[in-house]
Amino acid sequence: MDHFVYKSGQLQAEGVRVEELAEKFGTPLYVYSRQTFVDHFRRFQAAFAELNPCVCFSVKSCQNLAVLRLLHAEGASFDVVSGGELRRVREIGAPPESVVFAGVGKTNAEIRDALEFGIGWFNVESVEELENIARLTGEVNRMARVALRVNPDVDPHTHEYTTTGKRGTKFGIDFDASRRASRAFANDRNICIAGLHLHLGSPVNSAGPYVEAIEKTLRLIDEIRRDGITITAINLGGGFGAHYQGGEAPSAASYADQIVPLLRDRGLEVLFEPGRSIAANAGVLLTRVLYTKRSGARKYVIVDAAITELIRPALYGAYHFVWPVAAGEVFVPAHRGADLRMAGTELVDVVGPVCESGDFLAKERWMPPLKRGDLVCIYSAGAYGMTMSSQYNSRPRAPEVLVENDRGRLIRRRETYNDLVAAEREI
Ligand code: LLP
Repeated sequence: MDHFVYKSGQLQAEGVRVEELAEKFGTPLYVYSRQTFVDHFRRFQAAFAELNPCVCFSVKSCQNLAVLRLLHAEGASFDVVSGGELRRVREIGAPPESVVFAGVGKTNAEIRDALEFGIGWFNVESVEELENIARLTGEVNRMARVALRVNPDVDPHTHEYTTTGKRGTKFGIDFDASRRASRAFANDRNICIAGLHLHLGSPVNSAGPYVEAIEKTLRLIDEIRRDGITITAINLGGGFGAHYQGGEAPSAASYADQIVPLLRDRGLEVLFEPGRSIAANAGVLLTRVLYTKRSGARKYVIVDAAITELIRPALYGAYHFVWPVAAGEVFVPAHRGADLRMAGTELVDVVGPVCESGDFLAKERWMPPLKRGDLVCIYSAGAYGMTMSSQYNSRPRAPEVLVENDRGRLIRRRETYNDLVAAEREI
């Protein structure tokens, strides 16, 4: 699953003791494992190899340049959703042809940037956006390749906030409107609608919703073909699950078992946009215990990480396994599930220093006794950890370290108090 394992009661990342990294770089600290990124990416590609897919890593899940570079070296392309993400993939020299640009609200400046870059695909989410891209593309006398993001009205059975493929969400274009749009733009000089794009939600912990959505979308492709328009590509988006507790996410191979047969004889170019299934378990967040206290019947462990470093528990009620780095032989965790009640553990809430009751990282967990100064690991923080971080309460962002070749390399420095005020001073 990943390369964060206990040896002699001490957590290591690819053989490097994470305690050493925390001492060297301070806490809170994001630690990534190169080999885990590589393993996950290769497994994904191998699972779908028969379709010879273009795997566009979703930059929003983990955007550090060093991570993008290592995935690029493995053959990844990229899915971006903003001018800022576009800048990141340009910075690492990603070839434009296979970069996809998604998002419901692309600005003119972002569209012009993407055109200038020579972006491979615009994933388009509304008819007005189509018109706008056609106009801007006309200004530079170019042709933009477009995939219509369709809304297949399929329930991905995930959190309401990350459900996207159901009718009535802000995402995608309904099937009828997609067919009308493909007809309207069939002979456009500046836009070529060559693909259909789907993203159902995130995470989607079973293959069923993909199967339902693909079957519906293939029927739509056939209908569009009857109008004399050929769709050559299908982009299945991301949303493939990751193990936060263990056991909840199908393997890439088992998603593929159900998806590949639907597409193998269709002659379509296939694209994917996985984020979390590659990145979530390739990163952890290290944090130190500042204080412990009791309040009513509860015991609180107050750590130096907060919603500013990992907002997922507060935002989605998401589960992240939390455990001491120095577990000793007695407390090496048997699994990452919630129930690790055993002799010597106690029930605690792990919370951050931010001034909000919603600032918690783990609630009601059985954990070994923790005291001031203990180092604690928050697992599965590689996706949507750093990328959703903030400076709330004027907290400088935490640094990122990538473990590779038996050592931890700083790939983003800790922000300073100067960084916090710099943009205001420069006005
Ligand atoms: N493609 C599109 C169009 C997307 O909107 C997303 C995620 C992805 C791909 C990548 O999805 P993934 O494979 O990582 O599940 N912040 C939330 C997740 C929101 C995802 C938004 N879109 C979280 O922390 O769980």
